[in-house]
Amino acid sequence: MADLLLGQTLSFSADPFAEGAGAARHERQGAVLIEDGRIADLGPADRLRAAHPRARVTDYGAALISAGFVDAHMHYPQTAIIASWGKRLIDWLNSYTFPEEMRFADPAYARAVAARAFDLTLANGTTTLCSYATIHPESVEAFFTEAEVRGLRALAGKTCMDRDTAPEGLRDTAQSAYDDSKRLLETWHGRGRLGYVITPRFSPTSTPDQLSALGALWAEHPDCLMQTHLSEQLDEIAWVKSLYPTARDYLDTYEAHGLLGPGGLYGHAIHLTSREKARLAEVDASLIHCPTSNTFIGSGLFDMAGLTATGHRVGLATDTGGGSSFSMLRTMAAAYEIGQLRGHALHPAELWWLATQGSARALRLDDKIGNLAKGMEADLAVIDLASTPAIEQAAARAETIWEAIFPTIMMGDDRAIRAVWVGGTPVAKGQA
Ligand code: GUN
Ligand code: ZN
Repeated sequence: MADLLLGQTLSFSADPFAEGAGAARHERQGAVLIEDGRIADLGPADRLRAAHPRARVTDYGAALISAGFVDAHMHYPQTAIIASWGKRLIDWLNSYTFPEEMRFADPAYARAVAARAFDLTLANGTTTLCSYATIHPESVEAFFTEAEVRGLRALAGKTCMDRDTAPEGLRDTAQSAYDDSKRLLETWHGRGRLGYVITPRFSPTSTPDQLSALGALWAEHPDCLMQTHLSEQLDEIAWVKSLYPTARDYLDTYEAHGLLGPGGLYGHAIHLTSREKARLAEVDASLIHCPTSNTFIGSGLFDMAGLTATGHRVGLATDTGGGSSFSMLRTMAAAYEIGQLRGHALHPAELWWLATQGSARALRLDDKIGNLAKGMEADLAVIDLASTPAIEQAAARAETIWEAIFPTIMMGDDRAIRAVWVGGTPVAKGQA
């Protein structure tokens, strides 16, 4: 049976960074028709009600119906160590992250944390994750199994580390990384709504041999995405320079091994040289901005205004557990704050686009998810724009949709998520 959802609707006909806030389409009394897991129609409530009299109606009143959020870079295995105190990147990895990731040799633990990560992110309105797993193939199996149970579109890959900069017990080899990644890719890539992502963690924890092996795997499977980290902290960049003395820059450590291309997702990308920026634009790679992580770990201020002006493909992400929140609302707020610190106020339309269609575009899934449009998969978040007394009183003064949304962007959390739909089915409360 078809479902007709009533509420305010927000969709995009273009990229607001290129076209301005007019790229957003807002319907105050709108409706979304869902049939067979997809959006079958979208428009004014009156027209859709008349056209689809037999559809089952769910009326969300003044709540905002949006595409579900897309988190383009996160580490589900770091769910339990979110908000760990006092370290910068390399110490944070050694003190908190690597010890926790060792636990994922246990498939039962991996399943339990994957389930928890999906429950937490769904409760925050996030319907697609692009996650790193750990070096253990079991951790990838756990992620995809839990995603499949929930019917989610989801992406992940086995994190590869073969250098002695990673601790004993958390290392693979160039060959085993290639073999395990290939086997997992063949099992999971394109199965239902799942996608495999080739995942060298970052240059400092891989040997050139491993980077080459994964570059070769990517060349054999160019329809897969490849994710890694790039230029997150200055200490990290100096470390890369010492480990790869002949590389022109950090990006070159990937480029020289076949790991630079259009399906490449480069997390953080804060301290880029002009050569790196030019190459990333030239190949149309994706830069993934992780603002709560960048402030929490003290990494730096991503140049959103500059990089979008030069046409770079940018997505938005939590980077949990380096990021300090599972919420893409909180993540939009942090992106706004970083923009302000760089002297540029991001428009709410730009922030919302980044958290939905922009991230989907960065993951090259924008023809499937991240927007309300006919034919798109029906992954939706329904947002209460008055979810707390503080938000309610600020939004009460709004004269435009953007003034109504912005208090929720800045102060909203999981309490603002009224409902979530995945593949055309409502996620039960309590389950999300
Ligand atoms: N660089 C390499 N690994 C990681 C990670 O797990 N988190 C973050 N924030 N940066 C990284
Ligand atoms: Zn990361």
